[in-house]
Amino acid sequence: MIFSNDWFNQNAKIIWDKLIPTLKINKILEIGSYEGRSLCYLIELLGKDSDLEVHAIDTWGGGEDQVSKRLASEVTMSEVEKRFILNTQIVIENSKHKIDLHVHKGSSDLELSKLLSSGYRDYFDFIYVDGSHETTDTLLDATLAFRLLKKGGTMIIDDYLWHVDTRDNYRPKLAIDAFVNLHFHQLDIYQTNNAQMYILKRTQPIVAMK
Ligand SMILES: C[S@@+](CC[C@H](N)C(=O)[O-])C[C@H]1O[C@@H](n2cnc3c(N)ncnc32)[C@H](O)[C@@H]1O
Repeated sequence: MIFSNDWFNQNAKIIWDKLIPTLKINKILEIGSYEGRSLCYLIELLGKDSDLEVHAIDTWGGGEDQVSKRLASEVTMSEVEKRFILNTQIVIENSKHKIDLHVHKGSSDLELSKLLSSGYRDYFDFIYVDGSHETTDTLLDATLAFRLLKKGGTMIIDDYLWHVDTRDNYRPKLAIDAFVNLHFHQLDIYQTNNAQMYILKRTQPIVAMK
């Protein structure tokens, strides 16, 4: 497999190594796949034990964070997309169990809405939200993705503290805090020590005592 960056290993892997094996995961959704690093990790790990249904959403057009990198290194997103295809092919071919990969190339607002309208509400065991880091996009991605998450499922949102200077529309934290506060009766938060938000969708909502 070919990866040009190490975001996943630097930021997430240490927690995922402990958490993911404790969860029952067959149906996965990822928003923001880039070269497939996080998705290949999940397929390699979970495909040892069971068949998987995996959905990946990406424009392969880059976000604000990749745009600046692209200008610096002239990485083109078409090359990134080719690496995603190659990397996922390799990991699927090497998997012991069957991996049913669905690639949804498009903007997450439209692709998540299509999944909702196609009957995937409360469907996924695990969702990784790592697409656009613009605040309003993050709020929309988290909100729509949470409706696609099964009760008892886990959703991880990346880059809680990421920002571009002082601009409010490049601060996932504002969106993630708003999302968590608005859905507090439907979720619990895992205690972790990295800059990702780990959310468990409650099987029963919190009920106010009278
Ligand atoms: C940080 S990268 C994902 C990294 C990947 N999860 C990993 O761990 O290697 C973010 C990705 O989100 C995609 N993206 C940005 N805005 C998007 C949007 N509105 N809809 C869908 N994908 C988007 C970009 O094209 C990019 O590939």
